[in-house]
Amino acid sequence: MTDHVQIENSSGILTLTLARPEKKNALTNEMYGRLADAIEAAESDAGVRVIMIKGQGDSFTAGNDLSEFAAVAAGKAQGERQVTRFIRSLGRSTKPLIAAVQGRAVGVGTTMLLHCDLVVLAENALLSTPFVSLALVPEAASSLLMPLRIGHSRAFELFALGEPISAKVALEWGLANRVVAQEQLDAEAIALAQRLAKQPLGSLVATKRLMRNGEMLVKQMEAEGEIFAARLQSAEAREAFQAFAERRPPDFAKVA
Ligand code: COA
Repeated sequence: MTDHVQIENSSGILTLTLARPEKKNALTNEMYGRLADAIEAAESDAGVRVIMIKGQGDSFTAGNDLSEFAAVAAGKAQGERQVTRFIRSLGRSTKPLIAAVQGRAVGVGTTMLLHCDLVVLAENALLSTPFVSLALVPEAASSLLMPLRIGHSRAFELFALGEPISAKVALEWGLANRVVAQEQLDAEAIALAQRLAKQPLGSLVATKRLMRNGEMLVKQMEAEGEIFAARLQSAEAREAFQAFAERRPPDFAKVA
């Protein structure tokens, strides 16, 4: 097992650090599994009052590991896909979730933020959801949560064109609580986590339950997951993954 996810509990704050900076913290099956285990276990652990997610290096995360997507597309992936467990654990989590985001937050790097109760962005954060550019569809219930949060037009443009938005725009659109200088990111997120950790946990959990319907979100994830799995097997997706591996733009016209 690698240590691409570091897990630490300090004074009730469970910090999950994506620690694969040489690959921009791109998420592997194993990393999803570790994250899911930690978030699931936190549900029944009275010693966890807040969960914080952050990334090492210059990026929060470049999203799903594209070589693993390519392996799934080629029918070469083995075992359970842990991403499903991870996004469900986010949907069902009743403990307060905080994200501290610097640099790129691509794909699930952005859609997981829709499940975080507080999001702190560094000034250099860039959020993007290039699912369509990869010939895929939105996941993690983002097809429901994103338009609810920012409106259909903005959400459709984010999904369909896949271009990043800045921290300033993300804040204006209600995708984040704060934007801070990069060197302040950790301190700001920790200060918020400490404030939450002092609040009555039962009341926080009950408030979160009133504000979001975890089972409805999981149903949306299942609907997305079926289409996502079919899209992964498409010729368009194979072209997108091959283009990334070959560092060239994809040519979807040739597979139409
Ligand atoms: N999966 C696998 N590897 C990834 C990755 C991903 N999602 N994102 C980055 N990497 C790897 C690169 O292949 C590269 O590896 P190498 O050094 O062995 O060649 C390394 O991480 C650094 O990435 P690089 O592309 O050189 O950095 P950059 O600063 O020029 O660009 C990104 C950063 C995030 C903009 C760019 O890597 C990117 O677009 N990644 C793909 C994002 C994506 O589509 N994710 C899926 C969303 S559903």
